[in-house]
Parts: sequence; structure tokens; C-alpha cells
Amino acid sequence: MLELDDIQSGVLRPRPAPYVATYIALRIDDARAGRELMKHISEAVTSAANPESPRADTWVSAALSYQGLKALCVPQESLNSFSWEFRQGMAAQAKDLGDVGESDPKNWEKPLGGPDVHVIIVAVSPDADQLEAAVARARKTYQQMTGIEAIWRQNCHALPNEKEPFGYRDGISHPAIEGSGIPGTNPHEQPLKAGEFVLGYADELGGVQKTTPEILGRNGTYVAFRKLHQRVADFRRFLKTNSNSSDDEELLAAKMMGRWRSGAPLALCPFHDDAQLGADPHRNNAFMFEEDDRAGLKTPGGSHIRRTNPRDASIAGFARIHRMIRRGTAYGPLLPEGILEDDGADRGLMFAFVGAHIGRQFEFVQSQWVNDGVFFGAGDDKDPVIGSNGSGGNFTVPRKPVRRRMQGIPNFVITRGGEYCFMPSLSALRWLANLQT
Ligand code: HEM
Repeated sequence: MLELDDIQSGVLRPRPAPYVATYIALRIDDARAGRELMKHISEAVTSAANPESPRADTWVSAALSYQGLKALCVPQESLNSFSWEFRQGMAAQAKDLGDVGESDPKNWEKPLGGPDVHVIIVAVSPDADQLEAAVARARKTYQQMTGIEAIWRQNCHALPNEKEPFGYRDGISHPAIEGSGIPGTNPHEQPLKAGEFVLGYADELGGVQKTTPEILGRNGTYVAFRKLHQRVADFRRFLKTNSNSSDDEELLAAKMMGRWRSGAPLALCPFHDDAQLGADPHRNNAFMFEEDDRAGLKTPGGSHIRRTNPRDASIAGFARIHRMIRRGTAYGPLLPEGILEDDGADRGLMFAFVGAHIGRQFEFVQSQWVNDGVFFGAGDDKDPVIGSNGSGGNFTVPRKPVRRRMQGIPNFVITRGGEYCFMPSLSALRWLANLQT
């Protein structure tokens, strides 16, 4: 069994809906103040065993970057026991992640990707007033601490019907995790070993990730935060230009995603949208690909959901070791329905990957499945929705008698910043608070 009372709830529990959220980045200028901050955080974070917040209105999660652990003067031996990718930081991995051109870290929003992002706190509340009250309480605490500086903040919110800014229902597919008691969303998927998502437990390959000392890593996990700007007007124009009617436009949007905007999967309703199916959590993720749709005539191999989770489809490799927990949340104003010109507003998704293996989970999916097509025989074709396509992306819609091949797909998603963090257990937060180095 997983020790749920020691694991931060943000790792395993989906959020309440609807909600508003805020991301706050802090810099630690003084190790002693940083440790005191860890003490306060350990008292404020919510455990996975008790999803009701101690303050009943706000869920708090906290994670540290490698630079953050260093700022707390964690001993070198312990620092070295964390994963290689985490120690490099996200900006150093830019080329592999497809963060090039406009998404290059040199164009990121400051201070993201720099050495000052030490702690990221995420607070989630059912409404804005409760969130602001909780942030004001927290601010009072850290403002009194010399040596802690708030350096960045991003407010987020759930859009109506859990949609993301391109208009698709999001947050549908999640893996089941052995020993968590929290069900997955696909009845055809065997639960994954806990070690895929939490350190200190056996994973799918039989390995157990440990740190020095063990208490620092056990019941913790890695989180990859990414601020992803979405070019909604460009996306809409692309759909319009490449379709003959609004029905056709919706079908193209569904082919690119693998789901209709309602969330209904093409695997279960390939010809027409079915809004009821899209909204039904018992049915909207109950499918596999191989037996029913090997050639991708329903769900194209190149669509976003089939790339990022090929399920049982024949691919080069073994899909189960690349699964991830996602916690995306929208930021910025909605672009009103029907508007096809960009209004200059910053909008998109604060994307958060949660998993025990940054390398073979997040980085692998981003580099091999999103930004390459070799794994399913599509050469260097990239994800048509989120791929780093420059201006020359390709996308194939398998059809009979002839497939449809689309070219010149631009970037619809730009990386504005991000960081690899470690989300410690509650006991590890207390260990950090009591460090004597
Ligand atoms: C702005 C960027 C993104 C948008 C708009 C987006 C949108 C979506 C939507 C609408 C779904 C279907 C709903 C669901 O299953 O929850 C989805 C699923 C998914 N996305 Fe994304 N996504 C984005 C970025 C990413 C990134 C960066 C990754 C990983 C590198 C990723 C991985 C996944 C995975 C694993 C699934 C679930 C697939 C499945 O199990 O069927 N997404 N995304």
C-alpha cells in the first residue's frame, strides 16, 4: 500500500472542480530562512490521504528545483542521488524537448529557466476570494522571513466544462496506480506499479528509486512544470482554411486530437460527436486501439492522444513505461468564440507532469512521441496540435481509398518557461526543515 498520509495530494488526487489556482515561485537567499519555509510548507500542504485541506478551502502543493535543494544546503551526496535530468534542469534539456526557435529558453519569461526558481508553490481553491485569502496568509508568513523572495506568479483557472483554450475537454485520461485506492479512467488498462509515480516503490521494470538518505526521496516524486502559450486564433484559422464546412472543421479538430472537442473519443464515435459520451467519465476513456483500429482509420496514429498514449497499438517500444500523470490548468482570458484574429493576450496551459522518471516518461514522450513519428512509422512527423513544427509540420489522416496528407502546419503551442522540480513527501519537508548542515 502507498503511504498516502505522507504523499502530497497534488501527486495523486485530481483537483476539485471548478477551481482557481496560482503558481508562485520563490527564491531562497538564506538557507536558514529556507528551512523555516520548509517547516511552514510542511504544515500547509495537503496529504493524499486527506484531500480536505487543513484549512478546508485551499489545497497547497510545493516542489523544489535542484537549485532550491542546493540553496537549502542539502549535502552533495544527497543532491547526487537525484535523477540526472532533474539535476540539469529543464532549460538545459531544451534541444531534446523541442524548445527551439520561439520556444528557446533565451526567449522564456524571466525568471523561468534561470537559477533563481527554487520553490514552486501551487495553491488551488474553489473560488478566487478563498484563494486570495490563502495567498494573503502565506504572503504574511514569507514576507516576514528575510531571505525568501517571491519572484514570479501565474494565476490559472478551470475553463467551463474543463476545457483547455483550444476548446477541447481536458483532464480525461489518467492512469490507475497500484496501492493508491484511486481508480484510473480506462477499465482496459492494468493499474501501473506505484514506483512509476512515487519514489521508494517498485516500478514496472522492477527497480526502486532511492535517494540518500532514503527519507528525502521516499513518497516524493518529480514534477515538470511548463508554461505553454497557445495560439488559439492561428489554430482556429488553420481548421477553417483546411475544411469545407463547420462539420468538416470539427472533424479535422477531432482527427488532430483523437477526440471531439466534447471529449468523446474517435475510437468510440468516429463519424459524429457525442457530447453525452464526452462528458461520461465511465465511458469516455474506455477503449484501446490495436484490435479495433490498427490502421488509424478512426484515431490517426499522429493524433495528440494516440501519440502521447498509444495504449496497446503496435509501436516501437513498450507504452506502459512512458505513462504520466498530468495536471494542466488554463491561464489567460478566453478568446471569444468565432474570433480568428489574435488579440495579443497571453493564454495557454500551465502543464504539470508528475512521475518518478523524468527521462523515460516526460522527456521520452515529448521528444520521441510528440516531436517525432518514427515510433509508429511516420518519419519525422510531429504532433499536429502541440509539436514543435516550426512552420512545416505534416499530419496524415488515414482514410479509404486515399489518406489525407496535410503540410505546412505551424507552431500552435510555444514554451514560455518551465522547470523540473521535486515534490517531497511531508516527512521529507520536515527533514529539510531540520537540516543541520
Ligand atoms: C498546450 C498544450 C497541450 C494541450 C492543449 C493538450 C491537450 C490535451 C487534450 C485536450 C487531451 C485529451 C483529454 C485527456 O485525455 O485528458 C490531452 C491528453 C493527453 N496529453 Fe495533452 N495537451 C497539451 C500538452 C501536452 C504535453 C506537453 C504532453 C506530454 C509531453 C501531453 C500529454 C498528454 C497525455 C499523456 C494525454 C492522455 C492521452 C491518453 O491517455 O489518451 N499533453 N491533451
